Amino acid sequence: MKKNKILVTGGLGFIGSHTVVELQQKGFDVVIIDDLSNTRIEVLDGITAITGVRPEFVQMDLKDKVHVASFFEQHSIDGVIHFAASKAVGESVEQPLKYYENNISTLVYLLKNMTKNKVPHLIFSSSCTVYGQADELPITENAPVKKAESPYGNTKQIGEEIIQDVTKVFDLNAIALRYFNPIGAHESVEIGELPLGVPQNLIPYVTQTAAGIREELSVFGHDYPTPDGTAVRDYIHVVDLAKAHIIALQRLLEGKNKSKMEYFNLGTGTGSSVLDVINAFKKANQMDVNYKIVARREGDITSAYADTKLANEELGWKANLGLEEALSSAWQWQLKQK
Ligand code: UFG
Repeated sequence: MKKNKILVTGGLGFIGSHTVVELQQKGFDVVIIDDLSNTRIEVLDGITAITGVRPEFVQMDLKDKVHVASFFEQHSIDGVIHFAASKAVGESVEQPLKYYENNISTLVYLLKNMTKNKVPHLIFSSSCTVYGQADELPITENAPVKKAESPYGNTKQIGEEIIQDVTKVFDLNAIALRYFNPIGAHESVEIGELPLGVPQNLIPYVTQTAAGIREELSVFGHDYPTPDGTAVRDYIHVVDLAKAHIIALQRLLEGKNKSKMEYFNLGTGTGSSVLDVINAFKKANQMDVNYKIVARREGDITSAYADTKLANEELGWKANLGLEEALSSAWQWQLKQK
C-alpha cells in the first residue's frame, strides 16, 4: 500500500520536530520545509537517530512564491501540517509587519498551492491565545475568540478565519489545534526546545537558571487572583501534543471529521502556577532554581487551562505525561546543550 506523504512546514522547530518523529513512527512519509530561521539543521540528525529514517528536507522560505509553487508541482502531497511561523509575542508587538508577512502571507500562498494541486487535508498550528483571558475556566472550544493582545495572537486568529473561508469553497478539510503551553523534550533527548538568545518562555528560563546560564528567574507578578498569586497556565508535554497531530491527521484522511473545519483545544486540563512549576522542577530534578518576584509582564493573562472533553471524546486523545515528567525531560535536554 502506498504510504501517505505529509508535508510538515516548520518541521525542524520545537513542536514540528516532535511531530515528524511521531509521523515517521506511524509509517508516514514526511517531507519537511523549514527556513532554519529559528532552529538548527542538526535537528534532522536527532529525528534520524530516534526513528532510523532521515526525512526528506527542503530548506525554503515559504515567502518564496516561485519555489513554493514548484515544490507543490514536484511533490505529490496527501496532507499538510503547518507549523512554520514566527512566534515571539513581544517581538510581534515591535515588528507587526514581519508577523503579518511571515504568518499570514505564507499561509495564503500555502493554501493557494494546496487548492491548486488538490491537497485536501490541513492541520493548522493554533493557540489558546485566541481566547485571551477567558471568562470561564476551564476553556472550551466554544469560548469566544477575543481581540488579540498581540500581532502574533492576531495572526493565529486571522489564520483560522482564512482557512475556514477557504474550506467553504474548496475541497479542503482542516483542523485547527489550539495549543496551551507546550514544554519538555523527547525522552531520547535527541530533540527538544532550542530558544535563541535569552528565553522568553518560562521553562527554558527555568532550566537555564538551574544550569547557571542565567543568574535568576524573574517570576512575573505575585498579585494575580490565583491561589498563590502567580499566573496559571496549562503546561503540556510536547510529545503528547505531537501525538494529537497524528490523530487529527488520521481523522481527516479517514473522513471522520464532522465539519470541513474543526477546532480542538490541546492541554492537560490542569492549571499550574509559576510557583507550582518551580516546585515541580525541584521535585523532579532535585535542583534548586533561584528566583525573585518582580512586577507583572505586560500582556500576560491571569489564568488559562483547557477543557479537554472535546479532544478526549472526538479525537480519542488525552495527555498522558505529567508536569514532572515534562520538566525532567526539559532538564535532561538542557544538560545536553553546550
Ligand atoms: N514567566 C515568568 N518568568 C519568565 C517567563 C515566564 O514568570 O521568565 C511566566 C509568565 O508571566 C506566564 C508563565 O510564566 O505567567 C508562562 O509564560 P510563557 O512565556 O512560558 O508562556 P505564555 O503563556 O506567556 O505564552 C505562551 C506562548 C505563546 C502563546 C501563549 C498562549 O509562548 O506563543 O502561550 O497563551 F501565544
